[in-house]
Amino acid sequence: GRPVSLYEAVGGEETFTRLVRRFYQEVADDPVLLAVYPAKDLGPAEEHLRLFLIQYWGGPATYNELRGHPRLRMRHVRFHIGETERDRWLKHMRTALDELDLDPALDAQLWDYLVMAAHSLVNVAPQD
Ligand code: HEM
Repeated sequence: GRPVSLYEAVGGEETFTRLVRRFYQEVADDPVLLAVYPAKDLGPAEEHLRLFLIQYWGGPATYNELRGHPRLRMRHVRFHIGETERDRWLKHMRTALDELDLDPALDAQLWDYLVMAAHSLVNVAPQD
C-alpha cells in the first residue's frame, strides 16, 4: 500500500497540535525568547508553526495556502537568532517532544530535522 507519512505515523493533526501548544507554553515562560517575538500574542506564531510542521511531514498543505512558500530562512532574518536563542528554542521543543512519548525512531526523525532547521536559522554570529 501507500507509504505512511510521518504525519500519520505519529498520530496526525492532534499530535502536532499538542507538540506546538506545549512548545509555546515554554516559550511564554522564557524571557530570552519572548524578547525575540514581535507580538505579545503568541497565538498566530503557534498556529503558523503547527501548520508548517503538519505540511512538512506530509499532512494537509494548509500552511502554503495561508502563508505561501515557507522560506523559513528569509522569514527569520529580521529576528535576532543567535546560538542562545537557538538552544533555548531546541530545549523547549525537546520538552514538548518528550511529553508526546513517541516511538523512538519517529521521535529521532522529528528531532533530527528540528535540530538541523534550528541550526540553519541562526543569523547572528557568536559574540567573542
Ligand atoms: C515564525 C523565532 C526556529 C518555523 C517565527 C517568529 C519568530 C520565530 C520570532 C515570528 C512569529 C511572529 O510573526 O509573531 C524563532 C527562533 C528560532 C526559530 C528564535 C530558533 C532557532 C524555527 C524552526 C522552525 C521555525 C527550527 C521550523 C522547523 C517557524 C514558522 C514561522 C516562524 C513556520 C511562521 C512563519 C510565517 O508563516 O510567518 N519564528 N524560530 N522556526 N517560525 Fe521560527
